[in-house]
Amino acid sequence: MDDEPTQLPPALPALRARARDAGFTMSSEDRTGSLLAALAAARPGGNILELGTGIGEGTAWLLSGMDRSAALTTVELDPAVQDVGRELLGADPRVTFVTEDGGTWLDAYGGALFDLVFADTWPGKFTHLGRALDLVAPGGIYLIDDLLPLPDRPAEHTAAVRRLLAGLEEREDFRCVRLAWASGLLMAVRGS
Ligand SMILES: C[S@@+](CC[C@H](N)C(=O)[O-])C[C@H]1O[C@@H](n2cnc3c(N)ncnc32)[C@H](O)[C@@H]1O
Repeated sequence: MDDEPTQLPPALPALRARARDAGFTMSSEDRTGSLLAALAAARPGGNILELGTGIGEGTAWLLSGMDRSAALTTVELDPAVQDVGRELLGADPRVTFVTEDGGTWLDAYGGALFDLVFADTWPGKFTHLGRALDLVAPGGIYLIDDLLPLPDRPAEHTAAVRRLLAGLEEREDFRCVRLAWASGLLMAVRGS
């Protein structure tokens, strides 16, 4: 067995082509995407949050796992990259695209708690961590990636990851699983 995902979202090839054209290199890799889809599928009718839409590859993976009654909110600072996802995925009524700084959005959000939070940008991960964790429903999941050191990641990244992991360990209401797989993931599940 290898770990190459086989059930790819239909929009993925088009999103990838647009990412290549735009020189956008920050999309989640397929293994991470397949985990996002599986976690989304585990939440029928789930309320799901993605922080950092990028071009929309993670969004496509999440949508591919969600059932018809689940809802996804995805927040992105850069309208130029998010517009690609809006164009290719925006006809799906389950997704709401928000163009705003993630930290500002997190601070202002007053809606229902989330069953799954994919925190894939600075706010909700390296900043506003407590706020993002507070928005996870009991039994809900907080997921982050890009935790393994890579040659093209700045030295501050390692220190920031160390602080992030320490911050998560302080939260006794979450059980954490570290996955040294794909880009390095951490899944934290909120106890009830
Ligand atoms: C790692 S990429 C997201 C990839 C995407 N989630 C995926 O799975 O393909 C991070 C994104 O966060 C966005 N970003 C950077 N700072 C932000 C902020 N303060 N608020 C919201 N988004 C931000 C970047 O523009 C970038 O598109």
